[in-house]
Parts: sequence; structure tokens; C-alpha cells
Amino acid sequence: MRFTDQTVSVVIGGTSGIGKAVADALSQRPGRVEIASRKTGLDIADDAIVEAWFERFGTIDHVIVTAGSQAPGGKVTDVSLEAARAAFDVKFWGAIAAVRAAAPHVRKGGTITLTSGFLARRAVPGAYVKTAMNAALEAVAKVLARELSPIRVNVISPGLTDTEAYAGMADDARKAMLARAAATLPAGAHGQPQDLAAAYLFAIDNPFVTGSVIDVEGGALIT
Ligand SMILES: NC(=O)c1ccc[n+]([C@@H]2O[C@H](COP(=O)([O-])OP(=O)(O)OC[C@H]3O[C@@H](n4cnc5c(N)ncnc54)[C@H](OP(=O)(O)O)[C@@H]3O)[C@@H](O)[C@H]2O)c1
Repeated sequence: MRFTDQTVSVVIGGTSGIGKAVADALSQRPGRVEIASRKTGLDIADDAIVEAWFERFGTIDHVIVTAGSQAPGGKVTDVSLEAARAAFDVKFWGAIAAVRAAAPHVRKGGTITLTSGFLARRAVPGAYVKTAMNAALEAVAKVLARELSPIRVNVISPGLTDTEAYAGMADDARKAMLARAAATLPAGAHGQPQDLAAAYLFAIDNPFVTGSVIDVEGGALIT
């Protein structure tokens, strides 16, 4: 689908990190880009707010959801169910709420692109919440690609990417984590938000891609 002055793209999570890089890239093209997150008044964990937020739109061409980078770490037996459910409410149920509210507005041939993460298909002790919510999203996206056809639905699965998601870490620890990734990943680098943005644009632009999970993880899944 060609971008024109009438093209409307929505990036939920577009105020930071990967979502911001996607919004910036889309802003280089003709049309309008709406970004949203809690900072702009949209909490995707609240489905009533999500429903109301999408009512402002007529037709939407492209919906991108990157919201929700936080999840509690710890063993399945240790993480509180309350904390695990809260993470699911944002990343998994929030994405589903966004798709439910957005789908009636998305034009035929438009796209919905969700975000998972490489832990979806990696068994790492202490990371089960990320594994579970990302795996669940990847599975549902494939169902959505059939149910919502001819809207195309895809998932981008990032690996370790240098974003504000790690702003809470001490500077030294964050730098060491990124350097370790660059030293051990087959790509010889950690991810930059722009590396990920390129994958969202690919999913948006390629008319033959739907139901796909696109790994952009420096080779994390082959090590
Ligand atoms: N960075 C990585 O290494 C990595 C690796 C694997 C997967 N991912 C996935 O990639 C996606 C983007 O991550 P990122 O690194 O770009 O994170 P980020 O820089 O922390 O950005 C997250 C975005 O989501 C928004 N958000 C968070 N909670 C929200 C809510 N309840 N409602 C609406 N918006 C919400 C944030 O804005 P507000 O705070 O204003 O709400 C922000 O715009 C996430 O889904 C993450 O799980 C990232």
C-alpha cells in the first residue's frame, strides 16, 4: 500500500525506544503518524480507555504496538502471580485490546504489527513471564492474520536493543550488558532501535507478508 498524504499510522508505544524509532521512520513518509502511550493518556491495560481512544479515528492504514517492556523476573515458583498478571495486562491483553479496538478502523490491505521478544522461544530460567506473554502474542497474531485477512498481521521479535527500557539500570551495568551481547551474539552487535524500525517497515511494506514472526535479534536464537 503506497503512502499518501491520507495515510494514517498509529504507533502505541511510540513515545520511546523501538516504537519511537518506528514513528520517526514513518514520519519521513507522507501521511499522519499518531503516537500514544501512558504519557499521552493511553494506558493499554485499560480496555475501556483503549476502546474510547480508537473512536477518534475514521480509517487507519497501519497499527503498530510496541508498548510494554516491563516484566517481573524470577522463577515461576517465586514471582508473584499479581506481578505476572500485571505484565500480561499490558503486553498481552493490552495488545489484544488494541487490536480489537483498532481492527474495525483498519482499511482492507492495511497492517497490524505487534511486538514480542526473543525470549518467546528461549527457555531462560527467571524469565518465564516474558517468555509466556511473548509466545502467547506470537500465537494469537497468526490466528489474527487469518481472521482479519485481508488486513495483514505480523509480529516483530526483538533481541537485546538499546532503549529506555533499560534506563532504570546503573549506567555501568547497562553498558556491560550491551557490550556482553555485542561480544557474544553472532551479529557482533546489540540492537539499535533503528535496526528494529526497519523490520516494522518491511512488515508494513511487503504485501506478501502476513502471519509472520520476524526475528531481529542478532542471532540470539541460534546460539
Ligand atoms: N529493548 C529490548 O531489548 C527488547 C527486547 C525484546 C523485546 N522488546 C519489546 O519491544 C517493545 C518495545 O520495547 P522498548 O525497548 O522500545 O521499550 P521502551 O523504550 O521502554 O518503550 C516502551 C513504550 O511502551 C509504552 N508503554 C508502556 N506501558 C504502557 C501502557 N500500559 N500503555 C501504553 N503504553 C505503554 C511506553 O510509554 P509510557 O511509559 O508513556 O507508557 C513506551 O513508549 C516491548 O514490547 C518490549 O517487550 C524489547
